[in-house]
Amino acid sequence: MVAAPVSLQFLPGKATHAWAYHDGAAPKATGTVPGPRLELNQGDHVMVHFRNDLPDPTTIHWHGLRVPNASDGTPVAQIPVEPGATYDYEFDATDAGLFWFHPHVASDVQIERGLYAPVLVRQADEPEVTTERVLVLDDVKIEANGELSTETDALDVMLGRQGNVLLVNGKRAPTLTARAGSLERWRFVNVANGRYFNLAVPGRSLRVIGGDGGLVPEPYDAETLLIAPGERQDVLVDIGGAPGDVLRLQTVYYDRGHDIPDVGPLDLLQVEVDQPAAPRLPLPDTRSDFVPLQVGDATPIVHLVLSEDESSSEPRFLINGEEYPNATPTQGAPGDIAIWEIQNDSEMDHPFHLHGMFFQVLDIGGVVTQHGGWKDTVNVPLKETLRFAVQYGDAGRWMYHCHILEHAERGMMGELVLAGE
Ligand code: C2O
Ligand code: CU
Repeated sequence: MVAAPVSLQFLPGKATHAWAYHDGAAPKATGTVPGPRLELNQGDHVMVHFRNDLPDPTTIHWHGLRVPNASDGTPVAQIPVEPGATYDYEFDATDAGLFWFHPHVASDVQIERGLYAPVLVRQADEPEVTTERVLVLDDVKIEANGELSTETDALDVMLGRQGNVLLVNGKRAPTLTARAGSLERWRFVNVANGRYFNLAVPGRSLRVIGGDGGLVPEPYDAETLLIAPGERQDVLVDIGGAPGDVLRLQTVYYDRGHDIPDVGPLDLLQVEVDQPAAPRLPLPDTRSDFVPLQVGDATPIVHLVLSEDESSSEPRFLINGEEYPNATPTQGAPGDIAIWEIQNDSEMDHPFHLHGMFFQVLDIGGVVTQHGGWKDTVNVPLKETLRFAVQYGDAGRWMYHCHILEHAERGMMGELVLAGE
């Protein structure tokens, strides 16, 4: 895997100078946004030889994958890879699901420039569908000349940069074709710096079968489906219809605080329903054998308060009043079970991400959450307290942070230190 500058086009006829990944083993490969998708089978052993051809130091973090600490790609787990240098990442694909990789150095700048790619880990018995698609959601802030904006204004910092061009798999409002009557599986990852996507397909409901850490215990139907930065969603869409029908995937308003305006539904892609009709498939049984963690009154609690400090011209984002890297680490031991209580005292939502292990959301504001499943990133609504249960993984230094990248890089980050024997 090579990271390098590249010239591509997000708007027709206009060059955009981006940073992108390409397969260094493929002759003449050039960078794409998203980068090359890694397709793995559960249990695979993976080695990624990485070379940095960027002008800046970088790393690769494997978001959601339970990798050894030395392959986690954070600056506390490795020395960032200097321009021209290499690093080997090595891990097992322990869990099936959709994951992604991205830099963990100046992530607000480097991911925005195009450094991200999906990792799909398949299990032995995937549900039977007509078509499966991986849909990587992003937005970019593009100047009239086609170039990525290099300005970070106050609003970008406050809400996380929201672009003016929405991208699905690096394309603006692409058109897909689907066979009439087909059952499609759409697997989403939100790689945007700050945008929340609230997905809807008018006239269809979305059957949610999975999330960050694979299939959910009980599938459910949703009219709209929120996907915060860093999160994944896995849905079945009953395309139905007749040839000539057009379905739209949209993102609709979601109020995440700070009086963010409702600009109405925005199209992400359209689906043209086509011949020949697909054989009708039954809804697959996708329930997972999810075993909840056992927690009780004796389970230790980690209490984290998320806040914003707007007293100076440049707002800061804090955890327990501290600004990373000047922050007190959370301590634990591998294998321990703990409850994390994330209290959001700020005026907006924050998507909280923990590296290296999955957690199970217990409740939000004391109300038990309806839909379970393993997660690594969860939206903590403004002025709410969310609790999750987690069993700690391997020894090492594991980061946690808001996945609004402007916030993470401005203090809203911390470290879980798991000491080995
Ligand atoms: Cu997707 Cu620490 O990040
Ligand atoms: Cu945040």
